[in-house]
Amino acid sequence: AVAGLLDRYGRTAHDLRVSVTEKCSLRCTYCMPEEGLPAIPRHALLTPAEIGRLVGIAARDLGVHEVRFTGGEPLMRHDLAEILAATQAAAPGLPMALTTNGIGLDKRLPALIAAGLSRVNISLDTVDREHFARLTRRDRLPAVLAGIAAAREAGLDPVKVNAVLMRETLDGAADLLAWSVDAGVHLRFIEQMPLDADGVWSREALIDAEELLAALGTRFELEPIGRDDPSAPAELWRVVGTDATVGIIASVTRSFCRECDRTRLTAEGAVASCLFGDEETPLAPLLRGGADDEAIADLWRAAMWGKQAGHGMDRASFQRPIRSMGAIGG
Ligand code: GTP
Ligand code: 5AD
Ligand code: SF4
Repeated sequence: AVAGLLDRYGRTAHDLRVSVTEKCSLRCTYCMPEEGLPAIPRHALLTPAEIGRLVGIAARDLGVHEVRFTGGEPLMRHDLAEILAATQAAAPGLPMALTTNGIGLDKRLPALIAAGLSRVNISLDTVDREHFARLTRRDRLPAVLAGIAAAREAGLDPVKVNAVLMRETLDGAADLLAWSVDAGVHLRFIEQMPLDADGVWSREALIDAEELLAALGTRFELEPIGRDDPSAPAELWRVVGTDATVGIIASVTRSFCRECDRTRLTAEGAVASCLFGDEETPLAPLLRGGADDEAIADLWRAAMWGKQAGHGMDRASFQRPIRSMGAIGG
């Protein structure tokens, strides 16, 4: 048996999230500053071969069952298909998912699927074009919708759509759900976390799962189903009268940190054990210094052992992370 990624609180990580870039084609207010994130020097970014090697170690020696590529926006990497292919070569059969804003996905999808892509989650907070442009600071709704349509047409299943809850998302929530049911995508609403670049998040202004359920309840009858598995972030509801389900990721009010099964790699090849920890453990010096797989696996295990208990948002001493979501890897 492999000695997996255990932490001192008894959790084991099986789900790897790899950020591949800090760049993005949008500027969602809850994630990135207007001017974008400071550029990562090109030489510091992991190459497809390096990503393949690390994911291979994670899958073979550390018990990782699935990898998800995130960013920033992963499609900003022109070599994303090569990243997937190198990963699949190093970890044959490992399910590979993508979290993306969908822009340009229609054109890229054939190559990504050929390289082994299994699943996509696409971020979309509203189907109102003006609202979308305000939120993301870019007028790109049609491009996102084209990406979602392409994922459906390519037969990827499920196609999940992530919507971060804000005042305006709440007002449009029932419309977004009606649109999702029609489009055949699985919609998940997400409580916003204090990972915005501008530091304006506040607990008082949070739109939470309870408010959302009340808003959806005016148009839909929802039946609780529960979670797919204990470590799944989303709780699911059946949308009565349709074959759709809707999910809520209540990271703030119903924290799932105790069941967390994630480990993350930054675009520069450091292990980030928790979304809310500021400490990182760089693997790149070993990777680039000729270390063997075992040394890299040992350092990764050590990094995860030190994972914090949770985000601690409910404690008075809560300190928000220095970096924004886009910098950590959504
Ligand atoms: P599935 O495997 O399809 O369920 O994907 P996922 O939900 O793990 O990934 P996705 O990238 O779609 O993330 C959706 C949301 O989950 C994010 O917007 C976050 O709000 C939340 N999330 C992802 N990773 C973490 C994490 O490590 N901690 C917390 N608290 N929330 C997370
Ligand atoms: N809180 C919650 N979710 C966020 N995302 C980006 N920033 C935040 C935040 N501050 C979401 C994106 C994407 C996913 C990876 O994370 O919408 O769907
Ligand atoms: Fe880009 Fe995603 Fe962040 Fe929006 S949430 S700015 S799409 S990385």
